Amino acid sequence: MDLKAPRGTKDILPPESALWKEIETAVDGVAALFGYEEIRTPMFEQASLFKRSVGEETDIVSKEMYLFTDKGGEEMALRPELTASVVRAAIEHNLVTKQASCSRLYYNSAPMFRYERPQMGRQRQFHQFGIELLGASSALADLQVIEFALAVYKKLGFSNFHLKLNTLGNLSSRERWREELVKYLQFNLETLSEDSKRRLETNPLRILDSKNPADQAIVAGAPEITDYLDESDSEHFDELKALLAAAKIPFTIEPHLVRGLDYYNRTVFELTSSDLGSQDALCGGGRYDGLIEKLGGPPTPAVGFAAGVERLVLVLSKLRGGEMAAKKTDIYIVLADKGGREVGIEIASELRNAGFRVLFDLLDRSIKAQMREADKTGTRFVLVLGNDELAAGEITLKRMDTGAQERIPQQNIAARLKNP
Ligand code: HAM
Repeated sequence: MDLKAPRGTKDILPPESALWKEIETAVDGVAALFGYEEIRTPMFEQASLFKRSVGEETDIVSKEMYLFTDKGGEEMALRPELTASVVRAAIEHNLVTKQASCSRLYYNSAPMFRYERPQMGRQRQFHQFGIELLGASSALADLQVIEFALAVYKKLGFSNFHLKLNTLGNLSSRERWREELVKYLQFNLETLSEDSKRRLETNPLRILDSKNPADQAIVAGAPEITDYLDESDSEHFDELKALLAAAKIPFTIEPHLVRGLDYYNRTVFELTSSDLGSQDALCGGGRYDGLIEKLGGPPTPAVGFAAGVERLVLVLSKLRGGEMAAKKTDIYIVLADKGGREVGIEIASELRNAGFRVLFDLLDRSIKAQMREADKTGTRFVLVLGNDELAAGEITLKRMDTGAQERIPQQNIAARLKNP
């Protein structure tokens, strides 16, 4: 067959799908504990939404966005991220108002699309969970966003990550810093990589992220945003650092962490893990106080993060030695004679209603083959139903841990198996 899943996409098959479910359940659980409610938005939006929010010059919009013109002639984009969509929805449905209030929204396993070069941990269709906290400007809100992300990883038993933190100040301090940065980079133009030379024209802040060693050497001496912050931005950053210290959350300041989306101001952060390869960001986020107003809503501060599910699956599979927790069967019913079918179906349904995970043969196989399958499913009990048992209104119960076998009445079988 020459039909395959498109490059950069992945089928999620069992038993890996069980791990996805576990992650989704952990995210739902943490969201409930923090009082966040789920939002789901369309998979595609007007392309202009992302151009105006993420930014036309960013790689995400200028190079990676899946664009198409629909039959009505409108330019659409498969969503490359969700912050813009959440803000669009919040404005459209009046979730943000002029009154002081907070919207606590989260998303879970939401598909995103970016036309990137696929590699480990980088796909063209990938999934994110994350939160958007709309309406709160305090450093306490920034702390909560970081705490939320950490709580999910903690719940899943993963702790090998590192919190990187920076501040981008406000638009005018960022602009002053940007001007000085461009001057500095122009001065070093000869030594910059071709890619960075081009970026100097379009998106100079991205040069700070460059993985090219020659670029990195220049970047090491570049002007830092911290020297351009105004007083209130510095205070906000200091407060967040103090809150993180009080919450005993270790972090490092990364003066060159700028993130690849234009909407950020003040706090930006990433959690990275050495368990991942070059795509080491488990999640990223930050404050975007100007975005809601820019997209037509009332001036509203906001902060959030998004995390890659594929990357979390990678680190968790590694942590668990590749072992996926496939759910075990509780009861396998062996139908020894065709005559037992109706009773077997009835017993299976009674047991399922009582909460047991029940399997039985669907292939008319021999007793031996059924027993073999029962064994493979890791079932706790096997129930054998043959003509003998049928005639006596009984069933044979086999305990797989001890191998012990006994005949028990068919009646009240669920109660009996609850206290075996
Ligand atoms: P982002 O850094 O572009 O931020 O993406 C967040 C996370 O999504 C990354 O840290 C990574 O784990 C995962 N990710 C991104 N691209 C890919 C890819 N091609 N393949 C696999 N995983 C990927 C945002 O999307 C912002 N909306 C985050 C945010 C929310 N900021 C404020 N609120």
